[in-house]
Amino acid sequence: MNIFNSGSVATHDVRCAFNRHPEPPLPLMEQAELSNEDKATTSLSTDSGSDANSTNAAWLARRQAAVPRGVVTGSSAFIDKAENAEIWDIEGRRYIDFGSGIAVTNTGHRHEKVMRAAAEQSERFAHVAFQVIGYDVYVTLAERLNALAPIEHAKSLFFTTGAEATENAVKIARAHTGRSGIITFTGAFHGRTLLTMSMTGKAVPYRPKGTPVLPGIYHVPFPVPHHGVTEEDSLRALHNVFKADMSPSDIAAIVIEPVQGEGGFYQTPVPFMQKLRSICDEHGICLVADEVQTGFARTGKVFAIEHYGIEPDLIPIAKALGGGFPISGVIGKASIMDSVEPGGLGGTYAGNPIACAAALAVLDIIEEEKLCERADRIGARMIDALNRIKSKNTSRPIGDIRGLGAMVAFELVTERGTNTPDPDAVKAVISKAGELGLVLLSCGYWGNTIRLLAPLTIPDEHLEEGLSMLEAALVDPAT
Ligand SMILES: Cc1ncc(COP(=O)(O)O)c(C=O)c1O
Repeated sequence: MNIFNSGSVATHDVRCAFNRHPEPPLPLMEQAELSNEDKATTSLSTDSGSDANSTNAAWLARRQAAVPRGVVTGSSAFIDKAENAEIWDIEGRRYIDFGSGIAVTNTGHRHEKVMRAAAEQSERFAHVAFQVIGYDVYVTLAERLNALAPIEHAKSLFFTTGAEATENAVKIARAHTGRSGIITFTGAFHGRTLLTMSMTGKAVPYRPKGTPVLPGIYHVPFPVPHHGVTEEDSLRALHNVFKADMSPSDIAAIVIEPVQGEGGFYQTPVPFMQKLRSICDEHGICLVADEVQTGFARTGKVFAIEHYGIEPDLIPIAKALGGGFPISGVIGKASIMDSVEPGGLGGTYAGNPIACAAALAVLDIIEEEKLCERADRIGARMIDALNRIKSKNTSRPIGDIRGLGAMVAFELVTERGTNTPDPDAVKAVISKAGELGLVLLSCGYWGNTIRLLAPLTIPDEHLEEGLSMLEAALVDPAT
């Protein structure tokens, strides 16, 4: 059987694939279950394997029986272990990771310092609930982030998931303004909870059939000029919302990603963000920069909003902060953060001490290993490689190539020189990359984009190996 992603699944409408790279040998592979093609590429393994339950196929069958289809896994492989930018599946196949667990392992898988910090913290205590007894790592992490964030007098608090972070940013903005309205953008992704799936600017697959957008949430077209929406169009639409739907004096927050993540790695133009800042100032609206995906050196700055020369009011954070341990939070202007009454914020697991300790190590690593500079270098190398691949007439037609730091993406189009999305080609390339041993993720409002999210600690040789596999995956089968 073919264990690889057929491209028929999505995570956040994300597609990814683990696939084979026959190193080291595959001790547990059931030869009988391999296609001829699989056999050819896994010839290192002559071990027929004795434990049928330890194959990818066996676990996939168990997973399908035990886990609902609504939670999608992009790959049909099951991971055994990971180290920095490399992953091995339970059959011993090796992959280069250009997905970073959806922008989480910016500091690589199992960075020694992150693992040590987590281990040391777990020797002290694993949980008490910050609402019950305070602990040092929570407060120290808040202090570190307050000092790092581009907000003059900041306070921070912690949660567990990105959706909780964005949802709590809205709660804080509503408490501060006494208003209910929320403006977000088409293509935005803010989470899967009841509120955040309404904020998310894409209906399928995120809002189950029959689930309306909650009252008071409005989506403005996100500016993507090569897909027909200019900054002026967006601003006009925003003013239409103010006229037709809800007065700006009833709007609590405008929530925007500095670079849309799931939406396709489209960067918010600098003048547009600055214009939003002045609209928010004029009407007393909170500007929320959702940095769940862009944060922690990914874009060449600790926070992507640092590219904009403005102060946001609130910054939801998550993903890369914990280096693989689940932690999220909101950093914001102290005067706004203190608007919620005592008891109104928190959560039993919010700001878990092991994750706080890991996050402190992540912040050290970003500084010590100069990961912002490294992100710029990785991004430049990727864009250079993509431009070279695009110029070859043996490659599939590539459209727009873009990136901020190491948040790089490119579109596949039906015909060279056009911007007509080709989501089927995206599925095929990701599947092919998986076969070659490269983990890739898709994204995009039109399902037309492949994003490259290598760990910022990836060694040059693994970056080059991944780019070579990407080039091979992009060869047009028609040539
Ligand atoms: C910008 C942004 N906000 C919020 C979220 C939701 O985070 P989580 O999946 O941890 O709830 C995501 C997840 O991809 C994201 O990219």
